[in-house]
Amino acid sequence: MDSSRPSWTSRYSFILASIGSAVGLGNIWRFPYIMGKYGGAVFLIVYLFLILTICFIPLLAELATGKILKKECIGAYESVNPKFKPLGFLNPLTGVLISSFYFVVGGWIINYIYISFVSYKTSDFSGYFSSFIQGSTLPVIFTLLFLFMCMFFISRGIKKGIEFANNVLMPLFAVLLIGLIIFSLNLPNANLGIEYMFKPDFSKVSAEMFLAALGQALFTLSIGMGALLTYGSYIKEDKSIVKSTYTIIFSDTMFALMAGVMIFPAIFSFGLEPNSGAGLVFVTLPNIFAKIPFGNVVSAAFFILLFCAALTSGISILEVAIASFTERMKISRIKASVILFIIISAIAIPASLSFGKLYGVTLFGKTIFDFLDFTTSSILMPLNTLFLCIIAGWFLKIKGSQFISNKFFAVLFDIGLKFIIPTVLIGVLWAGLK
Ligand code: PFF
Repeated sequence: MDSSRPSWTSRYSFILASIGSAVGLGNIWRFPYIMGKYGGAVFLIVYLFLILTICFIPLLAELATGKILKKECIGAYESVNPKFKPLGFLNPLTGVLISSFYFVVGGWIINYIYISFVSYKTSDFSGYFSSFIQGSTLPVIFTLLFLFMCMFFISRGIKKGIEFANNVLMPLFAVLLIGLIIFSLNLPNANLGIEYMFKPDFSKVSAEMFLAALGQALFTLSIGMGALLTYGSYIKEDKSIVKSTYTIIFSDTMFALMAGVMIFPAIFSFGLEPNSGAGLVFVTLPNIFAKIPFGNVVSAAFFILLFCAALTSGISILEVAIASFTERMKISRIKASVILFIIISAIAIPASLSFGKLYGVTLFGKTIFDFLDFTTSSILMPLNTLFLCIIAGWFLKIKGSQFISNKFFAVLFDIGLKFIIPTVLIGVLWAGLK
């Protein structure tokens, strides 16, 4: 084994880092807007069903593959069979594509932290948001700033940064979310938001919605692009990863549900459209903040905490490519960070501009930003998860009994990994893309 590979100081720091990877913009920004786009409660039912049934197995399998092989993604797949090397390569590639739109949203957060301090100058937050993201200067600068900050942590080695962020800031973030939920639930017409979230309208079921729910489930749990495989590969001691898997799924789902209960009542109260897309959180929340005493302070606190949550996820997205660069090309983390910074900027800048100057440039009918979001979460992540299940189950021959003490669940894991999950993934991909 390579003794120069980094490793977690304890199981605790590993769990924290994995939760930090899972809980991020996917929960607070993406979940409500995708749920709004696909009809509310029906989407929630499908999403929760997928999280509780389908996601446990690939999550555990991805961590286990990393823990067993102790290599970055490409090397890990290659060591199972050299023919799998290109499939391993798809993981850092997916990471680069995800970061190229994820960091654009990170940049928006920086702007909202900034305007919280200089005070909101508008009452039309919807108009403000659209004119901000259409700009060619500030959104691009903030995107690069967010990318730079993630790179800064990652190039220096990440343990302390990640542990601190998760240990202190995540609980604080949860408390703030609860406060905002209480406020939101007390707004006029809040019940309409709750109904929208929990009263299903089954006429909205579609194959594309299933694909979107699967994409969101994988995205929010960070499954299917090698982040968990890479984090798993840094596990030193022989501890159970099953408990960690539960903990990651539980915390992540709680954060997503809290975000929904915070946002949907406010949407209905302020007469906004739940399907208004990527700006949902950035329009709804300032509306709330503008109405509460010390709204600016709460706004600053909220966006700073959201920034931290996004940072720990952003770091984990980058770590996949950084691990591949450093281990395969034998270059330092700093050099790898510089190379990655250049590659990601080259895609992230057009993604940011796709709300303004490059709005007319479309790929398969989608703007650059939407194209990156859709292809990564709805195609590449399910595809990578499929490859992972096949490689781990059929070739690496991971067995549930290696981690799960209960015999019944161990067998269920084996059947799920080899047969059920791959079939479901193929089915959903096929139906959704038809
Ligand atoms: N799970 C993160 C979120 O919900 O914001 C996003 C993410 C992190 C996706 C790491 C993929 C990944 F590998």
